Amino acid sequence: MRAYNFAAGPAALPTEVMERIRDEWLDWQGNGASVIEVSHRGKPFLRVAEQAEQDLRDLLSIPADYAVLFMQGGASAQFALVPMNLAAPDATVDYLNTGHWSAKAIAEARRYCRVHVAADVGAPYARVPAPSDIAYSGRAEYVHYTPNETIGGVEFADVPETGGVPLVADMSSNILSRPIDVSQYALIYAGAQKNIGPAGLVVVIVRRDLLGRARAGTPTVFDYRAVAAEHSMLNTPPTFAWYAAGLVFQWLKARGGVAAIERQNRAKAQALYAAIDASPFYHNRVAPEARSRMNVVFQLARPELDEEFLRRADAAGLKSLKGHRVAGGMRASLYNSMPAEGVAALVDFMREFERAHA
Ligand SMILES: Cc1ncc(COP(=O)(O)O)c(C=O)c1O
Repeated sequence: MRAYNFAAGPAALPTEVMERIRDEWLDWQGNGASVIEVSHRGKPFLRVAEQAEQDLRDLLSIPADYAVLFMQGGASAQFALVPMNLAAPDATVDYLNTGHWSAKAIAEARRYCRVHVAADVGAPYARVPAPSDIAYSGRAEYVHYTPNETIGGVEFADVPETGGVPLVADMSSNILSRPIDVSQYALIYAGAQKNIGPAGLVVVIVRRDLLGRARAGTPTVFDYRAVAAEHSMLNTPPTFAWYAAGLVFQWLKARGGVAAIERQNRAKAQALYAAIDASPFYHNRVAPEARSRMNVVFQLARPELDEEFLRRADAAGLKSLKGHRVAGGMRASLYNSMPAEGVAALVDFMREFERAHA
């Protein structure tokens, strides 16, 4: 039996997708071979690759003047590739700091350009900046932000206003969880291993007029223009991750797409936050308007019970609820593939655990 897996990433994939992979694992589409055993340049795989891109375009209504790239190196590689591709060494780039992952992006960008931190909400990173908290440099090549901080459980409800400066977003942990207007962004990147598919793939959606600006010395496989020109097949791509991502896109389309999944995501998160707020035994310190729908963090009022909570939850089939090592406490990741029943089971367990320890 599959457990309810609340891991933050790599995260649970839809069971239907896992079953499909299992069913065609040894003999994919009558090829007598697995999808991971065929050439990425052969027609069967090219069809998969093209269909995956088209389905992602459909799901997010990606305009034609945006390229979709399937790259490697994870979101962390993009921390460097964004400045390398979009800004000269003496250029200024603006960053919003809302926690762990934006801080990582800032630290990496500092190796490549002048970074101006336009807003820093400060410890404990439990809110997003108000428009009045943001002081842009006025000369930035782009503004970078992290719409969802996976570790802090902090999510922007609205897209920051940049006054026309190109906006770059690390959507690793909330892409495809809610509708977005891609045209508000110059570039979006997302590591696959949460809402897209298996690890090994990072999706980049970039406005085509930003291609061709990579600084000298950028490796060819990391130059967005070169990657776009070769349809992400400059070299051997992570074929399994690409194929599986395509199945996840089809799964999401069949379930009504991003607008439909957003309704479910909102209901799931509300149910869990309501349970946390209803009890003095559990606590979430994120400002209500900035609470993440994808990563719900919470603390036990008696942290000495953390280990027992995790042990009992695990035994009850509720897996990977331990908070990130830098944050402590608990974290329930409620990505698209987490069914409402999983959240209901977690809420029941939390009530039961509280009763037993009150
Ligand atoms: C928001 C965000 N950005 C970046 C990363 C780093 O991703 P990767 O491990 O693919 O480099 C993560 C990983 O969890 C993340 O959640």
